[in-house]
Amino acid sequence: MQVNEYKPLIVAFCCNWCSYAGADLAGNNRLAYPAEVKIIRVPCSCRVNPMFILRAFQRGADGVIICGCHPGDCHYTSGNYYTRRRMAALFSMLDYLGIEKERTRVEWVSAAEGAKFAATMNDFVQTVAALGENKRLEDLRCKK
Ligand code: FES
Repeated sequence: MQVNEYKPLIVAFCCNWCSYAGADLAGNNRLAYPAEVKIIRVPCSCRVNPMFILRAFQRGADGVIICGCHPGDCHYTSGNYYTRRRMAALFSMLDYLGIEKERTRVEWVSAAEGAKFAATMNDFVQTVAALGENKRLEDLRCKK
């Protein structure tokens, strides 16, 4: 008998200079995190337009996480400060729309923090899995 275990689909936007390197380090150190985490590499966390997050939810993502350099360490000086402000506004709007705020997260992960990257992804996947599928913004035209 086959049991269908629910696995949430997670989209992780990672900045090229810190978080993506952190993900790479996690892989090199063989630190496991769920395969349901789909990483999208962006030049800087501030490259993530709020529309990308809405579109990810429309296309079936159950959770979206944005990872960038620690405040003060952004390769482009202040990109992550824009991210922090922009995402705070977006997440409160999502909350208003009925999307649980646990489905979104901003984390700062440096290139030396492979263990933090893996732990963050494991924790985020567990949190989103406990919430179940995200149906709120689902765009039925995107269904296969
Ligand atoms: Fe990493 Fe800007 S380059 S957050």
